[in-house]
Amino acid sequence: MAQRLVFATGNAGKMREIREIMEGSGYEILSMKEAGVDPEIVEDGTTFRENAMIKARAVAALLPDAIVLADDSGLVIDALNGEPGVYSARYLGTDTPYSVKNAELIHRMEGVPEEKRSARFVCAIAAVLPDGRELETEGRIEGRIGYEPRGTFGFGYDPIFYVPEIGCTTGEIPETEKNKISHRGRALERMKEELKKL
Ligand code: IMP
Repeated sequence: MAQRLVFATGNAGKMREIREIMEGSGYEILSMKEAGVDPEIVEDGTTFRENAMIKARAVAALLPDAIVLADDSGLVIDALNGEPGVYSARYLGTDTPYSVKNAELIHRMEGVPEEKRSARFVCAIAAVLPDGRELETEGRIEGRIGYEPRGTFGFGYDPIFYVPEIGCTTGEIPETEKNKISHRGRALERMKEELKKL
């Protein structure tokens, strides 16, 4: 029977991405729901890595025979001292629409010159193995905060995240294109390599 690999998320988009990247790895890939668990997790870490590990450990405690992966990600804006950072999902309130959050960030960046608008999406992935070993990887994509929201693809802060490497925002490219260069895509590729070494 294939080793089960459970990704600690309820997000369908993340599950699609992990399935695409882990295809051919030989694992049986399951969401938390498919594995039959849905713990209440308090993400009270101060870094992406800490929060990813908190989630992975909480789910691994319920699924001792599975490899459990979890991620934590967010937008880090240099001119705002790293905000919204680990608070990206909670920034201005969890239920506040991203049109409002993005407008507020653009407003806060008013007057900030081009060369100081640097930002990055960061994704940390943590893994807890059945024997208790723990692995961590990280992926980043560098960009700049735009002057107005652009694009209808993606989610969250994508419309205000301009990536010079592709000449547009991550909200202007389809999901399959974004996965090839995204922070999460990169962190997952690295985790796939780490798992291969086992
Ligand atoms: P989490 O990793 O699911 O907790 O997500 C953190 C938050 O960071 C999301 O709710 C978004 O606000 C933001 N975020 C993370 N990755 C992306 C991305 O690829 N595009 C846009 N926003 C993102």
